[in-house]
Amino acid sequence: MTTEHLPRHEHYIGGEAVPPADGEYFTSDNPTTGEPWYEAARGTAADVERAVDAATKAFENPSWRRLSQTRRSALLRRVGELIGEHAEELARTETTDNGKLLREMRAQLAGLPEYYFYYAGLADKIHGETIPASSTDVLNYTVREPVGVVGAITPWNSPLLLTTAKLAPALACGNTAVIKPSEYTSASMLALAPLFDEAGFPPGVVNVVTGFGAEAGAPLVDHPGVGKLSFTGSTATGSHISERAGRRLVRAGLELGGKSPQLVFADADVASAANGVVAGIFAAAGQTCIAGSRVLAHRSVYDELVTRVAERASTIRIGDPTDPGTELGPLAMAAQLAKVEEYVAAGRAEGGEVVHGGGRPDVGLGGWFHEPTVFTGLGNDTRLCREEIFGPVVAIIPFDDDEEALRVANDTSYGLAAGIWTKDLGRAHRAAAALDAGTVWVNMYRAMSPMSPRAGFKTSGLGVEHGTEVVREYTRLKSVWINTSDEPAGDPFVMRS
Ligand code: NAI
Ligand code: MG
Repeated sequence: MTTEHLPRHEHYIGGEAVPPADGEYFTSDNPTTGEPWYEAARGTAADVERAVDAATKAFENPSWRRLSQTRRSALLRRVGELIGEHAEELARTETTDNGKLLREMRAQLAGLPEYYFYYAGLADKIHGETIPASSTDVLNYTVREPVGVVGAITPWNSPLLLTTAKLAPALACGNTAVIKPSEYTSASMLALAPLFDEAGFPPGVVNVVTGFGAEAGAPLVDHPGVGKLSFTGSTATGSHISERAGRRLVRAGLELGGKSPQLVFADADVASAANGVVAGIFAAAGQTCIAGSRVLAHRSVYDELVTRVAERASTIRIGDPTDPGTELGPLAMAAQLAKVEEYVAAGRAEGGEVVHGGGRPDVGLGGWFHEPTVFTGLGNDTRLCREEIFGPVVAIIPFDDDEEALRVANDTSYGLAAGIWTKDLGRAHRAAAALDAGTVWVNMYRAMSPMSPRAGFKTSGLGVEHGTEVVREYTRLKSVWINTSDEPAGDPFVMRS
C-alpha cells in the first residue's frame, strides 16, 4: 500500500519538529477501518540521544531550573487551559488512532485540564522540613529536589490521560521529560507537546520521540541521562523495564495490568451490579487496565446476574466510535483482536460456555471488532481467569460464602482494582479491607480523580500515580546539616551527633 498521501509527523524535540536521524517512518492505523492514516518518525537511539540532550539542557537552563514554584504553577494552569481549548480535536485524534468511543475520549479530554490544575495547585506546596537533630547546635533541613530528566513510556488505550498522570506531577516537581508514546497512538501526544511551549514552558522541557518499544523505548530506558522512568503498559514489558532500570539503579514507576474481580454479594442490588459489570468490562471494549474481567457472584443471585449481563451485552450497539449512539468500538489493533479470539478459543477449550458473543460482529466497516463476550462454567484456575486479555471478555463465577469470594478474588497474580456490590455496610468494609487491590470501589466502578492515589499491588505495579504522594516519585530528598555553634570541632575519631 502506498503511504505517500498520508500526513507525516516528526519527533518533537527542543520545541521543534525534528525528522528521525535515519529517515525512517512507520504508519499508524485507524482501527475502525483498518487503514493507515498517518506516518510518524521511527525513532532510534540517535533520536533518543537528541531528546535527552534537549531535556538535560532545559533542566539546566536557569529559565526552568530557577523558575519559582509559583511561576511553575502558573505555567501548569496555563497549559491546562490550552488543553481545554483544544480538547475536541485531541479527542477526535485519539478516537481515530485507538478506536475508543468519541464520547469517552471527549469526556477524558474535557477532564484533562483538571489534572494540570490539580498539579498546579501542588507545585507551590512542595517543600522539605526542618528536623530536630540530636544537638541544638545543628540545623537539619530537607529539600525535595527534582530528579532531572524523566523518561515516560505510555500505552495506547488512553494515551493523553495516562501520559498526563506522569507529566503533570513531573513538571510540578521541576523536572523535564522525554515521552515515548505507544507506536499505535503517537498523534495525540505530538499534538499536545507544542501546547507546553505555547503555555510558556521553555523549549526542551517536554519532548516526544515516537517509534517502537525495542527501538525507541529501550534506549530511553537505558539512557544514563534519564533520572527516573515512568511506565504504563503490560506487566511483561514493565517487568523488563524494571530490570533494565535496576541495572543502572534508577527508579521505575510502573502502572501495569490487572485481572480485577467484581464481587456481587447476595444482598446486592443486582440490576445496579449488572450495570457495573457491563461498565467494568465492555467500556473501552475491555481495553483498560482496570477492566473488571472476573465477576464473582453469590449463588443466590448468580442466575439473575448472568441473565441481566448477557441481556445488556446483547443490546450493546457495536460500530463506528465517532457515532454518538455507539457503545462498543473496535479493538485498537489487529493483534489485539487476534489475542481476544485466542482467549475466547481457550475459554471454550477449557470447558467454558459462551452465554453471549464469542465472535466477530458484522459491522461492515473493515475494522477490528469483537462482540462483547460473557463466559460461564470456568473456574478461577483457567487461563481466561488468570491472564489479562485486554478485550471485551468476562467470566462469571459463582461463590457460596464471603470467605470463598474473597479467597478467589485474591487468588490472582494481579492486584490493581476490585469492585464490591452489597448494601451491607459492614460487609463492604470487611471486603474492602481484605481485598489485595490498590483501588476498591463499592457500589460503583471505573471512577478516578487526580486527587485519589492509584497504585497497583502485586504484579500490577510499583509506586503511585495521582494524588499528593506522587511528589515523592518525582523528587529526591536531600538532608542538609548546618553547624550553628562557634565551638571548635571536637574529637575527630568520634562520630558527631
Ligand atoms: P506494551 O506494554 O509492550 O507497550 C507499552 C509501551 O511500552 C509502548 O509505548 C511500547 O512501545 C513500549 N515498549 C515495549 N517494549 C519496550 C521495551 N523493551 N523497552 C521500552 N519500551 C517498550 O504493550 P503493547 O505492545 O502496546 O500491548 C501488548 C499487551 O499489553 C496488550 O495486549 C495488553 O494486554 C497489554 N497492555 C496493558 C496495558 C495496561 O494498562 N494494563 C496497556 C497497554 C497494553
Ligand atoms: Mg492507531
